[in-house]
Amino acid sequence: MKYLIIYAHPNPKSFNNAIKDAVISKLTKEDKSFEIRDLYALGFDPILKGSDFIGFKEGKIPLDIVEEQNYIKSADRIILIHPIWWFGMPAILKGYIDRVFSYGFAYRAGEKGIEGLLTGKKVFILNTTGETQDQYVQYGFKDAISKTFQNGIFNFCGMEIISHQFFFAVPTITDADRKNILKQISTMPF
Ligand SMILES: Cc1cc2nc3c(=O)[nH]c(=O)nc-3n(C[C@H](O)[C@H](O)[C@H](O)COP(=O)(O)O)c2cc1C
Repeated sequence: MKYLIIYAHPNPKSFNNAIKDAVISKLTKEDKSFEIRDLYALGFDPILKGSDFIGFKEGKIPLDIVEEQNYIKSADRIILIHPIWWFGMPAILKGYIDRVFSYGFAYRAGEKGIEGLLTGKKVFILNTTGETQDQYVQYGFKDAISKTFQNGIFNFCGMEIISHQFFFAVPTITDADRKNILKQISTMPF
């Protein structure tokens, strides 16, 4: 069983970084095999280019995309860790999905419509927010984000989301609450 952590936060002092460390420590303790793609640390280029489209069409996939696709290919379980920014994912992660989950790799048009090609892979999503749970529920943001990730991205590509956790209002909760979240992560079944 191979795990792939995809992490998107630029600040090493962020709570997301603490979440990433808690996940790494859990997988290490459990002797699980994992890779981590820290998109900011890698300087991942998130801009889908005209030349990328030409490459996809001619079967000459840009090398930085091939490298990321190989990580996805060999992963059985994918753990996504990032904050919610503007009620979506940070642009670097959106661009990663634009470029790496490409036509012919992640999905294709089959006889019966779109076919997801990344079947068998299980996904766990850990998100932090600035706003409270009440605000997310009241305005429908939780449902909207969950549906976009589930139906719009991962299921579309054939993957299964096992859990999508929101840790709400991270900047304004107490230190004890934040510690509890990290404790919770150490017992999550990935
Ligand atoms: C560019 C930017 C956009 C943000 N947009 C949202 C948003 O749309 N909804 C929300 O709940 N919080 C938003 N926030 C707050 C972050 O989600 C919050 O600060 C973060 O999840 C806390 O975790 P961290 O300490 O790891 O950054 C935004 C923060 C930034 C920097």
